[in-house]
Amino acid sequence: MKISLVRPTMEYKDKAADFKREFLDNGESIINGSELLDKTDNYDEWLVSITNNTRVETVNPNWVVTDTFFAVDESDRIVGIIDLRHTLNGFLKDFGNCGYSVRPSERKKGYATEMLRLMLGVAANAGLSELRLAAERDNEPSVKTIIKNGGKYERGFEHEGKQADIYRIVL
Ligand SMILES: CC(C)(COP(=O)(O)OP(=O)(O)OC[C@H]1O[C@@H](n2cnc3c(N)ncnc32)[C@H](O)[C@@H]1OP(=O)(O)O)[C@@H](O)C(=O)NCCC(=O)NCCS
Repeated sequence: MKISLVRPTMEYKDKAADFKREFLDNGESIINGSELLDKTDNYDEWLVSITNNTRVETVNPNWVVTDTFFAVDESDRIVGIIDLRHTLNGFLKDFGNCGYSVRPSERKKGYATEMLRLMLGVAANAGLSELRLAAERDNEPSVKTIIKNGGKYERGFEHEGKQADIYRIVL
């Protein structure tokens, strides 16, 4: 199992549509970590937006600097998506620095664990010294993904009536 994190480009337009369709076909309308790819049918606009959001000079004034990556396998198929928010404002403090999703047909193969592991390197290279990760307590695969990457429990909170927790990963 070998995956890489790649920045979205126009070349991934059709693959991204196929990736998104799989979530919808599986009854999942939310794609965590996708920076609203789940909410738009316009890949070109999404690409401009996420590209602008990678730089402090061009980030949407209502947002924080964020890197978004596709996780691709050896045949360049998109297996997952993950984002890195460089800072956490008051609104984001309960969302943490990263969100991620693996396409339904590719789950339980270790991809999320590897995606987060690769993202820790990206974050360290960007100068971050620690990350906060949020997970709903009953989201066992997500909690395990975080703990396997060194996440240490920090605090619990309630999110939309559900119990969730924040973990800290020191880079
Ligand atoms: C959470 C998610 C990203 C995990 O992806 P994944 O690629 O299946 O995760 P991994 O294969 O790396 O598995 C991580 C651990 O969780 C376990 N796991 C995976 N799916 C599981 C499930 N449905 N139930 C229980 N454990 C599960 C794995 O066995 C592994 O633990 P192990 O090494 O002790 O065996 C994926 O389920 C997903 O996309 N869910 C929807 C989006 C989401 O919830 N994102 C997280 C919130 S930001």
